[in-house]
Amino acid sequence: MLVQLLLLSSVLLTFVSSGNAGVTSAFTRNQWPSVDIPLDNEVFVVPKGYNAPQQVHITQGDYDGKAVIISWVTADEPGSNKIRYGLSEGHYDLTAEGTVQNYTFYNYKSGYIHQCLVDGLQYDTKYYYEIGDGDSKRKFWFQTPPEINPDASYKFGIIGDLGQTFNSLSTLEHSLQTGAQTILFVGDLSYADRYDNNDVGIRWDSWGRFAEKSAAYRPWIWSAGNHEIEYFPHLGEVTPFRNYLYRYPTPYLASKSSSPLWYSVRRASAHIIVLSSYSPFVKYTPQYKWLDQEFKNVDREKTPWLIVLMHSPIYNSNDAHFMEGESMRVVFESWFCHYKVDVVFAGHVHAYERSYRISNLFRSNGSSHTVADKSAPIYITVGDGGNQEGLANKFRDPQPEYSAFREASYGHSTLEIMNRTHAVYHWNRNDEGKKIQTDTFVLHNQYWGNNRRRRKLKKNHLHSVISDLRNRALGL
Ligand SMILES: [Fe+2]
Repeated sequence: MLVQLLLLSSVLLTFVSSGNAGVTSAFTRNQWPSVDIPLDNEVFVVPKGYNAPQQVHITQGDYDGKAVIISWVTADEPGSNKIRYGLSEGHYDLTAEGTVQNYTFYNYKSGYIHQCLVDGLQYDTKYYYEIGDGDSKRKFWFQTPPEINPDASYKFGIIGDLGQTFNSLSTLEHSLQTGAQTILFVGDLSYADRYDNNDVGIRWDSWGRFAEKSAAYRPWIWSAGNHEIEYFPHLGEVTPFRNYLYRYPTPYLASKSSSPLWYSVRRASAHIIVLSSYSPFVKYTPQYKWLDQEFKNVDREKTPWLIVLMHSPIYNSNDAHFMEGESMRVVFESWFCHYKVDVVFAGHVHAYERSYRISNLFRSNGSSHTVADKSAPIYITVGDGGNQEGLANKFRDPQPEYSAFREASYGHSTLEIMNRTHAVYHWNRNDEGKKIQTDTFVLHNQYWGNNRRRRKLKKNHLHSVISDLRNRALGL
C-alpha cells in the first residue's frame, strides 16, 4: 500500500510541479439516451402499505457528526412523526420526535414531509431505525462518523447534477459499490424544473424515491444548484428554492449560518464548507460575512482537510457555462488560497474536469493572470451525474494551462482520507454499466504538507515509536 501511495504521489507531483500540458481524454462512448426514466419504472416504486414512509433520506444534523436529520414523506395522512432507533436490528429502545409539514407548488399538493433530528449519538456506531405505523413500518440503518480527529480515515463520495435518467441510475449504483460513507452532493438534484405545472412536484417525489437506496443509509451533504431555484412567475411561484428547501433540510444553524443554502459541517478529519452559487455572496452580504468568520473557525490541527462545495465551477474550460463562476472566483479565491483549501468540488458542467493548483489573484505588481500556486486548491468539476440534459462535450481548444484532466463522460468521484497528510482520490467513469477508475491521484494535505510541520510530525511519531519500544522492553 505504501509503495502504491508513493508511486501515485510522485505521479501527481510531476503533474503539479512541472505544469505539464493537461490531458483531454479522447474517450467517447454512446450512453443511454438522456431521457428521464418513466414514472412506472421499479426505481420509483411507492413502498407497499397504507401511508408507508417514502423518499427517506438523511443528512448530518449538527456541527461535529453526533446527530442526523432523517426526512421522509407520507402520502395519505400525516401519520407518526416518531423515529424508533437502537444499536441492533429490531431493538429500537430509543425514540425521537420530529415535525411534519406540507406545501403547494402551483396546483400540486405535496405529501406530508417529516423531519426528525436524532441527536446525542455515539461516534463510530451503527444505528438501526424504523419509521411508519402498523403494517407500513420501514427499517433502515446508518453509521455515525468517528470522533473529530486529525488522523481519522474516512471515505467521501462526490456526486453532482444527478437527475433521474438511466445514466443517473448507473451513477447511483456505482457510487454504492465504492463504500463511500457520506456523499458530498454538489447541486442539481432532480431536474424536476424541466417539467410543467404539477409534474414539477411529481418529479421531486420520484427523485426522492430514486435516491433513497443511498440517501436513507448514509448522509448526503446537500448544496443547491440552479435547477433548485425554480423561479416560475408563469405558475405564480416566485420564491426561489421552494421545493428544495421544504424537502432537503441542512444543519445550517449549527455553523451559525442564517440560511440553509450555505453552512458547514465537520466530519471525522474534514471541515466541509457548502456555498451557494445562487445566493448573494459579494462583500457585506450574509453569505460573505458568514464565510469570512467560518474560515477563521477552521482548526487544521483538529480537521486537517478543508473541502469547499459549490455548484458553479470557478475554473472550467468547457464551452458549457464558461466563466459563470467568475464572479464567485473574484470574491472568494483569495480566501481559498490564504486558508489553504485542499479541494473545491463543483458541478453544473455535465462533464469531468480537474485543475492543477493555480490561482488568478490580483498581485502586488498589478498583474492578474492564472499562475501555478502551491497555496491554491485543486478545483474539480463533477457535474457528470447523468441528468436529462446530456453531456457537455465541447471543451475549449487549446486546453488552458490550468486544466489537468478533462473528459465528457458520466461518472462520480471518491475521496478517501487516509490520515492527516494523505488522501486518495478517484474519478470513476460509467462505462457501459461498469465503473472504471479513470483519474486517480494522491492528494497531499495543504496544511500538514508544509515541510516544517511534516518534519515535526515525523519527529513526534519517532518519539512515540521509541517510547513504545522502551515501554515494551521494560514490560510496561
Ligand atoms: Fe447546474
